[in-house]
Amino acid sequence: MAKLLIRPILGIESSCDETATALLDTDGSVLAEAVHSQQAEHTPFGGVVPEIAARAHLAVLPGQIAQVMAQAGLVFADLGGIAASAGPGLIGGLIVGSQMAKGIAIAQRLPYVAVNHLEAHALTARLPGLVPDGAPFPYLLLLLSGGHCQCVAVEAVGRYARLGGTIDDAAGEAFDKVAKLLGLGWPGGPVLERLAQAGDPKRHDFPRPMLRRPGCDFSFSGLKTAVAREVAKHPPGALPMAEAADIAASFQRAVAEVIADRAGHAMAIMRARDPAARLLVVAGGVAANTAIRMALTRQAEASGFTMVAPPIRLCTDNAVMVAWAGLERLRLGWTDDLDFAPRPRWPLDSPGMNRDAP
Ligand code: KG4
Ligand code: ZN
Repeated sequence: MAKLLIRPILGIESSCDETATALLDTDGSVLAEAVHSQQAEHTPFGGVVPEIAARAHLAVLPGQIAQVMAQAGLVFADLGGIAASAGPGLIGGLIVGSQMAKGIAIAQRLPYVAVNHLEAHALTARLPGLVPDGAPFPYLLLLLSGGHCQCVAVEAVGRYARLGGTIDDAAGEAFDKVAKLLGLGWPGGPVLERLAQAGDPKRHDFPRPMLRRPGCDFSFSGLKTAVAREVAKHPPGALPMAEAADIAASFQRAVAEVIADRAGHAMAIMRARDPAARLLVVAGGVAANTAIRMALTRQAEASGFTMVAPPIRLCTDNAVMVAWAGLERLRLGWTDDLDFAPRPRWPLDSPGMNRDAP
């Protein structure tokens, strides 16, 4: 018998380089939220430095939680539960967020939920108001972020099947590495997309790894190597802007084609598993890319699916999705013990995700 939560839930996200807190009402509406990007802390190093990330989470979280509670005009005693990302991710940050959540749970005797960060991305589409009918199960999730690149059959809360994923780099990682080769700074995706607008996407015929291969696995390292070879034709530091723009546009076109092709295969696999499936949900920072969104929209249409991408602020790392995943679990009466240890690796389809499973 499902238990209904009668008081708001607090969610905490600290698995990578965003420190975030959100407070959701029992129906999933957002009462207050805050996201602190650690971009400034990591930019000098050209990527996320785990130790710096953990320290930054520790410095920011207490004040951020207090601010979000105050914004909603609530105190901890008003809460009905607390959820925090407990993996997968960088262990230092996961420990900071989890310990903070457990501390509040102990002090207030609140139910605690250790949220799988990937599950949070997977369930975001079910937040009230995003998708008509609330994204009914089952649907296909395409997660495209800096650290993750996978196709997942989302069958129920806690019931996920990984249909395919990257065998080397994640899509966002490929954008970041190519942006670095082009001297564009970090994170690379948004800057590369902007530069690509000025370039000719047909100038370079870069490889399309895995295109038309069976299944829905991805690979991006060969494409990155091809870009590196093109860049190396110019003396170091002397790549003309127009050349860089052509490379960026051609790279982005290759990625969009590969992702659309792989998504097409994933939708066919999903249909074969469950003929009722008709929704493709795209999440992760790379879902912000217009060329990729357009390619996916076209592919979804051709495959008889409807594509939905949550608004960008909910596609990238945030705490609204963590609180929502916590809420979905609490509604089923699923909570976690306070000795739950955060997990740097935690596949979505690992045992224990579904409490109802035999
Ligand atoms: O989901 P996210 O915010 O964080 C995690 O990785 O968990 O995704 C960040 C990634 C970065 O690799 C970034 O370069 C990429 O998403 N990204 C983009 C764009 N915006 C962000 N990639 C391509 N085009 C974009 N517009
Ligand atoms: Zn994420």
